[in-house]
Amino acid sequence: MADWFEDDGFWTKMYPYMFSEERLETTQHEVDGIFTLTGFQTGQVLDLCCGPGRHSILFAQKGCQVTGVDRTPFLLKKAREKAEEEGVAVEWVEEDMRRFSRPETYDLTLSMLTSLGYFDDPQEDMLVLKNLYHSLKPGGICVLDMMGREILARNFHDTVSEKHADGSILVQRREILDGWGTLRNERILIENGTALTYSFEQRIYSGQELRESLSRVGFHNITLYGNLKGDPYDHRASRLVAIGWKSK
Ligand SMILES: C[S@@+](CC[C@H](N)C(=O)[O-])C[C@H]1O[C@@H](n2cnc3c(N)ncnc32)[C@H](O)[C@@H]1O
Repeated sequence: MADWFEDDGFWTKMYPYMFSEERLETTQHEVDGIFTLTGFQTGQVLDLCCGPGRHSILFAQKGCQVTGVDRTPFLLKKAREKAEEEGVAVEWVEEDMRRFSRPETYDLTLSMLTSLGYFDDPQEDMLVLKNLYHSLKPGGICVLDMMGREILARNFHDTVSEKHADGSILVQRREILDGWGTLRNERILIENGTALTYSFEQRIYSGQELRESLSRVGFHNITLYGNLKGDPYDHRASRLVAIGWKSK
């Protein structure tokens, strides 16, 4: 049976919720934050699991040469259309994050909006981090952004629902498994009286686990932040952001 993240229907149906107008509007601030926190100025950028390309396109608009990699054709199509509309060139690659690796090519690599933790085998997450490391030039920078375990624990609700302008309702049910190692999600989308249910599990990282994982693949000077404004990863954090460097 295919894994949940290989279900194109999931990404297609979740698209309006996952990539809401509100989220698209925050992207510019996220990109500004990445420039400020890393000191990165320009060069080759890899946006791994780029989805509809919201970060890729903004980096390209800043003059960077960008590769956006994702496994979901529907999202890559959205990304291509948006890049065309904005008149920017981005290299879009349809590939699995466990397989994409281009040794010593990039100055900056990104993994944004909790794009890690999808695989049953934790070694596959490590493989993704190794790929990011190998794809960086010496001195290159890696930025990861995700929902950290501490944040999830602080704000935990087992059921939340949102109603959208078109009348659809998205119900999200959550369960903690493996002693806070795994988050089980059930998303029920109710549209025109019909309910569609998607169930999936994700590995959840604490700040220290993410730092250790990055360190194990070779990154150094790893700093954790609680958002892309550069606030500390503490009890007020809204995101788990990790930035690490590859040695020169
Ligand atoms: C939560 S979205 C994040 C999208 C984007 N980074 C952003 O911030 O808007 C996760 C993305 O990972 C992609 N994805 C899921 N599994 C993948 C895999 N095995 N290899 C490559 N991409 C994958 C999905 O298609 C989706 O675009």
